[in-house]
Amino acid sequence: TTPLHSAARAAGKLYFGSATDNPELTDQPYVAILSQSSMFGQITPGNSMKWDATEPERGVFTFAAGDVIADLAASNGQLLRGHNCVWYNQLPSWVSSGGFDNATLTEIVATHCGTVVGHYAGQTYSWDIINEPFNDDGTWRSDVFYNTMGESFVPVALNAARAADPKTKLYINDYNIEGTGAKSTAMVNLVKSLKAQGVPIDGIGIQCHLIVGEVPSTLKENFEQFTALGVEIAITELDIRMTLPSTTALLAQQQADYETVISTCTEVEGCIGVTVWDYTDKYSWIPSTFPGQGAACPWDANLVTKPAYDGIVQGF
Ligand code: XIL
Repeated sequence: TTPLHSAARAAGKLYFGSATDNPELTDQPYVAILSQSSMFGQITPGNSMKWDATEPERGVFTFAAGDVIADLAASNGQLLRGHNCVWYNQLPSWVSSGGFDNATLTEIVATHCGTVVGHYAGQTYSWDIINEPFNDDGTWRSDVFYNTMGESFVPVALNAARAADPKTKLYINDYNIEGTGAKSTAMVNLVKSLKAQGVPIDGIGIQCHLIVGEVPSTLKENFEQFTALGVEIAITELDIRMTLPSTTALLAQQQADYETVISTCTEVEGCIGVTVWDYTDKYSWIPSTFPGQGAACPWDANLVTKPAYDGIVQGF
Protein backbone atom coordinates (compact mmCIF):
# COMPACT_ATOMS: atom_id res chain seq x y z
CA THR A 1 0.00 0.00 0.00
CA THR A 2 0.99 3.62 -0.48
CA PRO A 3 3.42 4.98 2.13
CA LEU A 4 1.83 7.84 4.05
CA HIS A 5 4.34 10.63 3.43
CA SER A 6 4.29 9.80 -0.29
CA ALA A 7 0.48 9.96 -0.21
CA ALA A 8 0.61 13.34 1.54
CA ARG A 9 3.08 14.72 -1.02
CA ALA A 10 0.95 13.47 -3.90
CA ALA A 11 -1.95 15.43 -2.35
CA GLY A 12 0.17 18.61 -2.32
CA LYS A 13 0.95 18.53 1.40
CA LEU A 14 4.39 19.16 2.87
CA TYR A 15 4.61 16.10 5.10
CA PHE A 16 3.02 13.23 6.96
CA GLY A 17 4.85 12.67 10.22
CA SER A 18 4.89 11.08 13.65
CA ALA A 19 5.81 11.97 17.18
CA THR A 20 8.46 9.81 18.76
CA ASP A 21 10.24 9.66 22.08
CA ASN A 22 13.75 8.79 23.21
CA PRO A 23 13.04 5.58 25.17
CA GLU A 24 11.39 4.00 22.09
CA LEU A 25 14.50 4.39 20.01
CA THR A 26 16.02 1.21 21.46
CA ASP A 27 13.22 -0.73 19.69
CA GLN A 28 14.79 -1.51 16.34
CA PRO A 29 11.69 -2.71 14.45
CA TYR A 30 9.93 0.47 15.65
CA VAL A 31 12.79 2.69 14.50
CA ALA A 32 12.98 0.90 11.15
CA ILE A 33 9.40 1.94 10.31
CA LEU A 34 9.81 5.44 11.79
CA SER A 35 12.88 6.00 9.64
CA GLN A 36 11.22 5.12 6.31
CA SER A 37 11.22 8.56 4.74
CA SER A 38 8.44 7.67 2.29
CA MET A 39 6.27 6.78 5.29
CA PHE A 40 7.20 9.64 7.63
CA GLY A 41 8.55 12.88 6.23
CA GLN A 42 8.56 14.64 9.59
CA ILE A 43 9.05 13.83 13.27
CA THR A 44 8.23 15.60 16.55
CA PRO A 45 9.88 14.89 19.91
CA GLY A 46 7.11 13.76 22.25
CA ASN A 47 8.90 14.95 25.39
CA SER A 48 12.56 15.77 25.02
CA MET A 49 12.32 19.43 23.98
CA LYS A 50 9.87 20.37 26.76
CA TRP A 51 10.88 22.79 29.51
CA ASP A 52 11.53 20.14 32.19
CA ALA A 53 13.86 18.37 29.75
CA THR A 54 15.68 21.42 28.39
CA GLU A 55 16.06 23.80 31.37
CA PRO A 56 15.70 21.69 34.53
CA GLU A 57 17.38 24.40 36.59
CA ARG A 58 17.36 28.09 35.85
CA GLY A 59 20.00 28.87 33.25
CA VAL A 60 21.12 25.22 32.96
CA PHE A 61 20.23 23.93 29.51
CA THR A 62 20.32 20.24 28.57
CA PHE A 63 19.88 19.32 24.93
CA ALA A 64 21.28 15.80 24.74
CA ALA A 65 17.91 14.02 24.45
CA GLY A 66 16.40 16.61 22.11
CA ASP A 67 19.51 16.43 19.95
CA VAL A 68 18.99 12.67 19.52
CA ILE A 69 15.60 13.36 17.90
CA ALA A 70 16.93 16.26 15.82
CA ASP A 71 19.83 14.11 14.60
CA LEU A 72 17.47 11.23 13.76
CA ALA A 73 15.34 13.57 11.65
CA ALA A 74 18.41 14.90 9.89
CA SER A 75 19.87 11.47 9.16
CA ASN A 76 16.50 10.24 7.86
CA GLY A 77 15.98 13.37 5.75
CA GLN A 78 12.84 14.25 7.72
CA LEU A 79 11.49 17.64 8.73
CA LEU A 80 11.50 18.42 12.45
CA ARG A 81 8.77 20.15 14.46
CA GLY A 82 10.01 21.61 17.74
CA HIS A 83 7.70 20.98 20.69
CA ASN A 84 7.32 23.08 22.89
CA CYS A 85 8.53 26.30 24.55
CA VAL A 86 5.78 27.58 26.85
CA TRP A 87 3.25 25.16 28.35
CA TYR A 88 1.67 24.86 31.79
CA ASN A 89 2.57 21.14 31.95
CA GLN A 90 5.91 19.33 32.32
CA LEU A 91 7.50 22.41 33.83
CA PRO A 92 10.42 22.10 36.23
CA SER A 93 9.35 23.08 39.74
CA TRP A 94 11.61 26.13 39.71
CA VAL A 95 9.23 27.59 37.09
CA SER A 96 5.87 26.24 38.24
CA SER A 97 6.36 27.27 41.85
CA GLY A 98 8.88 30.04 41.35
CA GLY A 99 6.95 32.99 42.75
CA PHE A 100 8.56 35.30 40.19
CA ASP A 101 7.28 38.80 39.49
CA ASN A 102 6.22 39.88 36.00
CA ALA A 103 9.61 41.35 35.00
CA THR A 104 11.54 38.30 36.20
CA LEU A 105 9.24 35.75 34.56
CA THR A 106 9.32 37.79 31.35
CA GLU A 107 13.11 37.48 31.34
CA ILE A 108 12.86 33.75 32.13
CA VAL A 109 10.39 33.07 29.28
CA ALA A 110 12.41 35.09 26.77
CA THR A 111 15.64 33.37 27.76
CA HIS A 112 14.08 29.92 27.67
CA CYS A 113 12.46 30.32 24.24
CA GLY A 114 15.43 32.18 22.78
CA THR A 115 17.94 29.61 24.00
CA VAL A 116 15.98 26.48 23.05
CA VAL A 117 14.85 27.74 19.63
CA GLY A 118 18.32 29.18 19.07
CA HIS A 119 19.95 25.83 19.86
CA TYR A 120 17.91 24.21 17.08
CA ALA A 121 18.16 27.16 14.68
CA GLY A 122 18.25 25.92 11.11
CA GLN A 123 17.14 22.40 12.12
CA THR A 124 13.38 22.80 12.49
CA TYR A 125 10.60 23.43 10.01
CA SER A 126 8.33 24.79 12.74
CA TRP A 127 8.01 25.18 16.51
CA ASP A 128 5.09 24.98 18.91
CA ILE A 129 6.08 28.11 20.81
CA ILE A 130 2.87 28.33 22.83
CA ASN A 131 1.11 25.11 23.81
CA GLU A 132 -2.44 24.84 25.16
CA PRO A 133 -3.02 28.44 26.31
CA PHE A 134 -6.81 28.23 26.54
CA ASN A 135 -9.49 26.59 28.64
CA ASP A 136 -12.27 24.82 26.72
CA ASP A 137 -14.60 27.81 27.23
CA GLY A 138 -12.10 30.08 25.44
CA THR A 139 -10.83 31.87 28.53
CA TRP A 140 -7.12 31.95 29.28
CA ARG A 141 -5.80 29.01 31.23
CA SER A 142 -4.91 29.99 34.77
CA ASP A 143 -1.23 28.99 34.82
CA VAL A 144 1.99 30.52 36.13
CA PHE A 145 2.54 32.42 32.87
CA TYR A 146 -0.92 33.99 32.54
CA ASN A 147 -1.27 34.61 36.24
CA THR A 148 2.08 36.42 36.40
CA MET A 149 2.40 38.07 32.98
CA GLY A 150 -1.16 38.28 31.66
CA GLU A 151 -1.45 37.76 27.91
CA SER A 152 2.04 39.20 27.38
CA PHE A 153 3.67 35.77 27.77
CA VAL A 154 2.54 35.03 24.20
CA PRO A 155 4.32 37.92 22.42
CA VAL A 156 7.34 37.64 24.71
CA ALA A 157 7.81 33.99 23.71
CA LEU A 158 7.07 34.54 20.00
CA ASN A 159 9.40 37.53 19.71
CA ALA A 160 12.24 35.68 21.45
CA ALA A 161 11.75 32.68 19.17
CA ARG A 162 11.73 34.79 16.01
CA ALA A 163 14.93 36.55 17.07
CA ALA A 164 16.61 33.19 17.81
CA ASP A 165 15.67 31.54 14.50
CA PRO A 166 14.18 33.87 11.89
CA LYS A 167 13.28 30.99 9.56
CA THR A 168 11.39 28.48 11.67
CA LYS A 169 7.62 28.80 11.56
CA LEU A 170 6.15 29.86 14.87
CA TYR A 171 2.98 28.07 15.97
CA ILE A 172 0.43 28.22 18.73
CA ASN A 173 -0.85 24.68 19.37
CA ASP A 174 -3.97 23.51 21.21
CA TYR A 175 -6.56 20.74 21.55
CA ASN A 176 -10.34 20.97 21.25
CA ILE A 177 -9.92 23.52 18.46
CA GLU A 178 -10.78 21.02 15.74
CA GLY A 179 -14.35 22.20 15.17
CA THR A 180 -15.87 25.63 15.66
CA GLY A 181 -16.70 26.77 19.17
CA ALA A 182 -15.61 29.05 21.98
CA LYS A 183 -12.05 27.75 22.13
CA SER A 184 -11.52 28.05 18.37
CA THR A 185 -12.96 31.57 18.49
CA ALA A 186 -10.48 32.44 21.23
CA MET A 187 -7.67 31.21 18.96
CA VAL A 188 -8.97 33.29 16.06
CA ASN A 189 -9.11 36.38 18.25
CA LEU A 190 -5.61 35.80 19.63
CA VAL A 191 -4.06 35.40 16.17
CA LYS A 192 -5.89 38.50 14.92
CA SER A 193 -4.64 40.51 17.86
CA LEU A 194 -1.05 39.27 17.47
CA LYS A 195 -1.08 40.17 13.78
CA ALA A 196 -2.53 43.60 14.55
CA GLN A 197 0.33 44.20 16.99
CA GLY A 198 2.99 42.98 14.56
CA VAL A 199 3.87 39.97 16.69
CA PRO A 200 5.28 37.10 14.61
CA ILE A 201 2.85 34.17 14.23
CA ASP A 202 2.98 31.73 11.32
CA GLY A 203 0.73 28.84 12.21
CA ILE A 204 -1.98 27.28 14.30
CA GLY A 205 -1.39 23.71 15.44
CA ILE A 206 -4.56 21.67 15.75
CA GLN A 207 -3.71 18.72 18.00
CA CYS A 208 -6.64 16.43 17.01
CA HIS A 209 -6.72 14.07 19.99
CA LEU A 210 -10.11 12.74 18.92
CA ILE A 211 -12.55 10.00 19.93
CA VAL A 212 -13.85 7.33 17.54
CA GLY A 213 -17.30 8.32 16.27
CA GLU A 214 -16.97 11.87 17.58
CA VAL A 215 -15.17 13.82 14.86
CA PRO A 216 -16.69 17.32 14.89
CA SER A 217 -18.87 18.10 11.88
CA THR A 218 -17.43 21.61 11.58
CA LEU A 219 -13.80 20.65 10.90
CA LYS A 220 -13.62 22.18 7.44
CA GLU A 221 -15.40 25.37 8.38
CA ASN A 222 -13.05 25.78 11.31
CA PHE A 223 -9.89 25.00 9.35
CA GLU A 224 -10.97 27.60 6.81
CA GLN A 225 -11.60 30.28 9.44
CA PHE A 226 -8.05 29.68 10.70
CA THR A 227 -6.36 29.84 7.30
CA ALA A 228 -8.40 32.97 6.45
CA LEU A 229 -6.33 34.73 9.14
CA GLY A 230 -3.28 34.45 6.90
CA VAL A 231 -1.56 31.68 8.86
CA GLU A 232 -0.91 28.08 7.91
CA ILE A 233 -2.36 25.26 9.93
CA ALA A 234 -1.13 21.76 10.70
CA ILE A 235 -2.62 18.73 12.39
CA THR A 236 0.02 18.23 15.02
CA GLU A 237 -0.91 15.36 17.36
CA LEU A 238 -3.51 13.21 15.64
CA ASP A 239 -4.85 10.12 17.37
CA ILE A 240 -8.41 8.75 17.56
CA ARG A 241 -9.05 6.73 20.68
CA MET A 242 -11.75 4.23 21.62
CA THR A 243 -12.98 2.52 24.74
CA LEU A 244 -11.16 -0.80 24.88
CA PRO A 245 -11.37 -3.55 23.79
CA SER A 246 -11.22 -2.66 20.12
CA THR A 247 -13.76 -4.41 17.92
CA THR A 248 -14.07 -4.80 14.16
CA ALA A 249 -16.83 -2.19 14.19
CA LEU A 250 -14.77 0.31 16.21
CA LEU A 251 -11.76 -0.20 13.93
CA ALA A 252 -13.98 0.41 10.89
CA GLN A 253 -15.37 3.60 12.42
CA GLN A 254 -11.82 4.65 13.28
CA GLN A 255 -10.79 4.15 9.65
CA ALA A 256 -13.66 6.40 8.55
CA ASP A 257 -12.70 8.99 11.17
CA TYR A 258 -9.06 9.07 10.10
CA GLU A 259 -10.20 9.49 6.50
CA THR A 260 -12.46 12.40 7.50
CA VAL A 261 -9.68 14.24 9.30
CA ILE A 262 -7.10 13.68 6.57
CA SER A 263 -9.47 14.56 3.74
CA THR A 264 -10.35 17.81 5.49
CA CYS A 265 -6.65 18.72 5.57
CA THR A 266 -6.39 17.70 1.91
CA GLU A 267 -9.29 19.99 0.98
CA VAL A 268 -8.00 23.05 2.87
CA GLU A 269 -5.02 24.50 1.04
CA GLY A 270 -3.43 26.10 4.09
CA CYS A 271 -3.37 22.82 6.00
CA ILE A 272 0.25 21.94 5.31
CA GLY A 273 0.81 18.62 7.03
CA VAL A 274 -0.31 15.97 9.47
CA THR A 275 1.51 14.43 12.44
CA VAL A 276 0.24 11.42 14.39
CA TRP A 277 1.05 11.37 18.12
CA ASP A 278 3.14 8.31 17.58
CA TYR A 279 2.28 5.88 14.87
CA THR A 280 1.79 2.75 16.98
CA ASP A 281 -0.44 1.76 19.88
CA LYS A 282 2.72 0.31 21.44
CA TYR A 283 3.90 3.80 22.40
CA SER A 284 0.69 5.81 22.50
CA TRP A 285 0.21 8.19 25.45
CA ILE A 286 -3.54 7.45 25.51
CA PRO A 287 -3.90 4.38 27.81
CA SER A 288 -1.96 5.98 30.66
CA THR A 289 -3.78 9.31 30.37
CA PHE A 290 -7.30 8.05 29.63
CA PRO A 291 -7.69 4.77 31.56
CA GLY A 292 -9.76 2.18 29.69
CA GLN A 293 -9.15 3.88 26.34
CA GLY A 294 -6.57 3.25 23.64
CA ALA A 295 -5.98 1.68 20.23
CA ALA A 296 -5.80 5.26 18.92
CA CYS A 297 -3.00 4.95 16.35
CA PRO A 298 -2.80 3.64 12.76
CA TRP A 299 -0.44 0.76 13.67
CA ASP A 300 -1.29 -1.75 16.41
CA ALA A 301 0.98 -2.67 19.32
CA ASN A 302 2.66 -5.35 17.15
CA LEU A 303 3.63 -2.72 14.57
CA VAL A 304 1.02 -4.03 12.13
CA THR A 305 -1.10 -1.52 10.21
CA LYS A 306 -4.79 -1.21 11.14
CA PRO A 307 -7.77 -0.17 8.98
CA ALA A 308 -6.97 3.40 10.13
CA TYR A 309 -3.90 3.27 7.89
CA ASP A 310 -6.09 2.77 4.83
CA GLY A 311 -8.32 5.60 6.03
CA ILE A 312 -5.29 7.92 5.96
CA VAL A 313 -4.32 6.83 2.44
CA GLN A 314 -7.91 7.33 1.27
CA GLY A 315 -8.05 10.77 2.92
CA PHE A 316 -5.10 11.99 0.88
C1 XIL B 1 2.41 13.76 26.11
C2 XIL B 1 3.50 12.71 25.86
O1 XIL B 1 3.17 11.97 24.70
C3 XIL B 1 3.60 11.80 27.06
O2 XIL B 1 4.69 10.88 26.91
C4 XIL B 1 3.82 12.62 28.32
O3 XIL B 1 3.83 11.77 29.45
C5 XIL B 1 2.74 13.67 28.47
O4 XIL B 1 2.69 14.47 27.31
N1 XIL B 1 -0.62 17.42 24.25
C6 XIL B 1 0.67 17.79 24.00
C7 XIL B 1 1.76 16.79 24.15
O5 XIL B 1 0.92 18.91 23.53
O6 XIL B 1 2.97 17.37 24.56
C8 XIL B 1 1.38 15.67 25.08
O7 XIL B 1 2.41 14.68 25.05
C9 XIL B 1 0.03 15.10 24.72
C10 XIL B 1 -1.04 16.16 24.80
